[in-house]
Amino acid sequence: MANAVNIGVLVSGNGSNLQAIIDRIEDGTIPARITCVISNNAGAYGLQRAEKHGIPAVHMDHRIFSGRESYDTAMVEALKQYDVNLVVLAGFMRIITPVFLDAFPLAVMNIHPALLPSFPGIHAQRQALDYGVKFTGCTTHFVDAGTDTGPIIMQSVVPVLPDDTEESLSARIQIEEHRVFPESVRLFVEGRLTVDGRRVIVS
Ligand code: GAR
Repeated sequence: MANAVNIGVLVSGNGSNLQAIIDRIEDGTIPARITCVISNNAGAYGLQRAEKHGIPAVHMDHRIFSGRESYDTAMVEALKQYDVNLVVLAGFMRIITPVFLDAFPLAVMNIHPALLPSFPGIHAQRQALDYGVKFTGCTTHFVDAGTDTGPIIMQSVVPVLPDDTEESLSARIQIEEHRVFPESVRLFVEGRLTVDGRRVIVS
């Protein structure tokens, strides 16, 4: 077993993926704890979810910082105060800078609602519908300096149905997200992920 993992989760909105990870920690599936949840958005429901489970919930307003680097510097300081050694981006809708990544090398994990490298960036579900793909899905990956380009941990495939809307497709993808993201976190926590170039090897 690896050393104790303290997870910091960053959210911007609903936080259903945060909830899925909390649930797997509370039922004993993930042997770790979440030491803080931080949001750039004061109204993020994810902050309320954290409070309900006794997890420190912090609002850090990006608008009061002069730029991305200064915001990320403050974010790193906050995460270090909470002894975080794995950062989980669970619907965190901001680009993070090398300042952040250098502080947590190969320890920032993201979920994206598409089968990367297809449809990176925002509105991934709409991109998939507009393109006309028959299958899409979700991807967990380590974060690197690009947009949704880091080494892939897990993926799950979801069909696109003829009468899908962005909402119906997003809901189907989220069911898989809530399975794949906690599982990816568990593999990290158990020390079972090694990165070799672009490949993530699961032992
Ligand atoms: C999730 O679908 C996640 O894949 C997406 O935001 C949603 C957050 O939902 N992330 C991105 O699009 C990142 N580029 P949640 O707040 O209910 O977990």
